[in-house]
Amino acid sequence: MNTNKSVVVVGAQWGDEGKGKVIDFLANQADVVSRFQGGNNAGHTVVYGANIFKLHHVPSGILNSGTLCLLGNGMVVDPLVLVEELAALEKRGIDTSNLRISGKAHLNMAYHKDLDKANERLLGERKIGTTGRGIGPAYADKVMRRGIRAIDMTGFERFRERLAEILPLQNRILKEIYNHKGYDINELLELYCPALEKLGPMVTDVAQLLIENLKKRKKVLFEGAQGALLDIDHGTYPYVTSSSTVAAAAATGSGLGPQYLNQVLGVIKAYTTRVGEGPFPTEDHSEAGEQLRERGNEFGTTTGRPRRCGWFDSVIARYAVMVNGLTGLALTKLDVLSGMDEIKMALSYRCRGEEVKNFPISIEELKDCTPVYETFSGWDEDISRVRRFDDLPFAARVFLEALEENIGVKIELVSVGPDRSQTIIYQDSKLESWIVPAE
Ligand code: GDP
Ligand code: IMO
Ligand code: MG
Repeated sequence: MNTNKSVVVVGAQWGDEGKGKVIDFLANQADVVSRFQGGNNAGHTVVYGANIFKLHHVPSGILNSGTLCLLGNGMVVDPLVLVEELAALEKRGIDTSNLRISGKAHLNMAYHKDLDKANERLLGERKIGTTGRGIGPAYADKVMRRGIRAIDMTGFERFRERLAEILPLQNRILKEIYNHKGYDINELLELYCPALEKLGPMVTDVAQLLIENLKKRKKVLFEGAQGALLDIDHGTYPYVTSSSTVAAAAATGSGLGPQYLNQVLGVIKAYTTRVGEGPFPTEDHSEAGEQLRERGNEFGTTTGRPRRCGWFDSVIARYAVMVNGLTGLALTKLDVLSGMDEIKMALSYRCRGEEVKNFPISIEELKDCTPVYETFSGWDEDISRVRRFDDLPFAARVFLEALEENIGVKIELVSVGPDRSQTIIYQDSKLESWIVPAE
């Protein structure tokens, strides 16, 4: 049964596109918001009024009381960090009783973080620039069939037994390869005991919950983390994260068939940023890149690292449309471009004397690609209070129309500031039923 009630929201660049803002904006009308991949490598910012929330595991729908928030089987969950995240939300008066965790989600354990950091050290100059949160090793253990799952948190004895099975090998790897002293099982059990008590009761069959809600025609948002170019298969491998970040993962990472995924909204910035290592054709090392970083406050939500910045890249945007099957775009941070003398947009690349319109598979080829830009006039007006497309400066409208045409997918909404109210909805948007009518 196609319920026509779900929207998958995914990042269409290298992460940090503003997914948290867009999800929070749409979540007002959502019955369910569900994460389906990644873990606390994600940092999703939600701003309303003077309130700023930085979410790492918890779906950005949590600020709407009554919205069911789910962590799907495709995620890796760090129980210690999740407990802290929930405590911080509760301290600020946010009700977290509507959070549920899939029993099939894998646990990101203390030793995964150590392995992540040690791997990066060993790689030296070839490091990935990970968030250091243990994500790669946690997914590696899942695939190696030696992971601990959230269901194992539902009983202390069960958790102890699983850890006792796994720890001897982990300790050998830590000691023999990484020169780490390893972990004592009793110390680990003590460390995790409070998390088991808090999170154990939240563990359930998330797929079943989702199906029941979808069959009742409830509105479900799937919240992607990272972005298309960080996808383990489709991204700039090996400079990627360790999960499938594309829209189809919302099905496998939640336990649903693909027919339940209706609209696929790609969140994309009006320029491009990247954190960590790896090729980035439109990266700008000049004054313009610095301006984008300062004006856009481009510093990592999770690690605080300065983000690499550059102009909008239509080649990666078209690629993100393809690998996700995007049905619409949410364009963010248009306000950051205000006051720039001129604005550039890459239409294609030049590589080894040839024009390249499609994103190359090989990162060696990508490293040799230089962007072919079209230059647009800038605008000086502050657009952060604009709420209708027609009220945007002419130059901004020209930029948006060119962007849509280059990418071949319609813009559904434009964000002109971090606050949930700073959003322009296009008149013919397919998201209409998700928007609260203006008062
Ligand atoms: P996410 O990981 O995709 O959720 O994005 P992040 O939260 O890591 O980074 C996006 C940053 O931009 C956050 O600080 C947001 O508050 C902010 N932001 C989102 N949309 C806009 C916008 O339209 N304009 C401005 N100026 N900031 C925005
Ligand atoms: P959100 O959801 C931006 C990047 C890291 C590194 C690579 C691998 O906030 O958009 P990992 O720790 O996942 O093994 O790191 O992926 N990365 C992100 N970059 N936003 C994110 O999440 C990211 N999550 C991981 O910087 O390059
Ligand atoms: Mg982020």
